[in-house]
Amino acid sequence: MPLNGVAERTPEAFVLITDFDDVANPWEGPPMQRSISEFSSLLGVWVGNGSGVFPTIKSFEFRDEIRFSRRGSEELIHYEQITFLKDDTPSHWESGFLKFNSNGFLEISNAQDSGRVEILEENSFRKTDRGFRIELKSKALQNDPRLRETIRIFELVDNTLSYSIAMATQVVTESTPHIRAELRRS
Ligand code: HEM
Repeated sequence: MPLNGVAERTPEAFVLITDFDDVANPWEGPPMQRSISEFSSLLGVWVGNGSGVFPTIKSFEFRDEIRFSRRGSEELIHYEQITFLKDDTPSHWESGFLKFNSNGFLEISNAQDSGRVEILEENSFRKTDRGFRIELKSKALQNDPRLRETIRIFELVDNTLSYSIAMATQVVTESTPHIRAELRRS
């Protein structure tokens, strides 16, 4: 059923509702609840390697560690990510949360060592037999006037977690790859 632009990034719960042709207005009634348990497969510690590029900087490689945790029944996953360049200097360090917003989309909010703050919202989500793929796009970027937009894609396949980050800046105005990394459950 073609709807408006929202349908293109509709959470699976809403896709299910629109499958019922006999529902007069599929958008009426309470939104279906999603649980952060959809992302439980992330819980634990992941380690791996990544690389960074951007037209305005020198390419680099890094070690990556991401730790996802959940406390009790809170509908929240906390994560902390730290990266080290080849010579062991810490490069990028961030901490944040995964949670569903009131529209039923996953949101990642984080604070970064540079002082930058970023909030990304789910753009598309696909569950697979062996994991999932999720794409998120920035809805708020603060404290770094260079940035216009960021896009993050995470893909989980069994015990391999890959992600990429693309960004648009004041200088490079089209969304352009910045980071890609592949981690394994440690
Ligand atoms: C694994 C994560 C990341 C690593 C290892 C990383 C590393 C780096 C490095 C080494 C540089 C070049 C040196 C510098 O200008 O400070 C850089 C530049 C930059 N990074 Fe990242 N970064 C990461 C994630 C991010 C994220 C999430 C954002 C935005 C939310 C971001 C935004 C930028 C910007 C705006 C620049 C400057 C680009 C320019 O000068 O044109 N980075 N990053």
